[in-house]
Amino acid sequence: MKGIILAGGLATRLRPLTLVTNKHLLPVYRKPMIYYPLEAMKKAGIKEVLLTTSSDHAGHFANLLQGGEQFDLKLYYAIQRDPKGIAHAIALAEEFAAEEPILVILGDNIFSFDLRPAVQKLESQGAGAIIFGARRNTESKQYGVIEMDRIGNVISLEEKPANPRSNIAQTGIYMYDNKVFSHIKGLKPSDRGEYEVTDLNNCYLREKTLTCELIDWWVDAGTSHDELLRANNEVARLSGENKL
Ligand code: DAU
Repeated sequence: MKGIILAGGLATRLRPLTLVTNKHLLPVYRKPMIYYPLEAMKKAGIKEVLLTTSSDHAGHFANLLQGGEQFDLKLYYAIQRDPKGIAHAIALAEEFAAEEPILVILGDNIFSFDLRPAVQKLESQGAGAIIFGARRNTESKQYGVIEMDRIGNVISLEEKPANPRSNIAQTGIYMYDNKVFSHIKGLKPSDRGEYEVTDLNNCYLREKTLTCELIDWWVDAGTSHDELLRANNEVARLSGENKL
């Protein structure tokens, strides 16, 4: 399985912190934010990772991360000229994936969950997609929302719904078979003009090849200044307990 980390976008919600730098280079406790998804890739057993970002910031990432040696990964870069959505950025990885399944992690997502068993599961089943959900106490409407039945089947997926059908947020961790690129080619931009990852995941839901795993601790550090602060505090706490 190949890895893709998304580190583009404009990060307007974190201004003025992101006026002259990229959100994924901001500090989260002792490290730049982008270190956490890279470490998660390594922990999952992934050997090659493509990082997608804007041309403005590609040089900053290259200076910091070089060829990925410090993470024991081979790191490649792709430029996303315009931030046209998560599915649009994933499409840049078609050649890199070379028919293999992919693990996608959004560059602002931090979690301690070990993805290796799910990587092995998708590799052995050979087809389909796995998404990862996390229960939120409040504000699930700022995320993709996953509705599941009692035995864990996904019933519906909605991007930032006004009236969420559950408190399960869709995290920024996705695994896809190699049909992902043909599914993306069939997507249309949403009302906000983006190629949405939720529309992509709905392709697999319609095909009945989508499964969801629930994870416990997870932060999307990019949604607001408060979530960035929460990420810093919780990462500091978990690092102190050797849990991250
Ligand atoms: O973090 C989980 C959430 O991520 C999910 O619950 C949502 O379903 C999903 O749409 C996404 O929502 P966000 O509002 O958090 O997306 P955001 O625009 O912040 O972008 C997420 C990451 O993807 C961020 O690290 C930047 C990167 N990105 C985003 C866009 C739109 C790109 O690299 N290119 C892009 O064009």
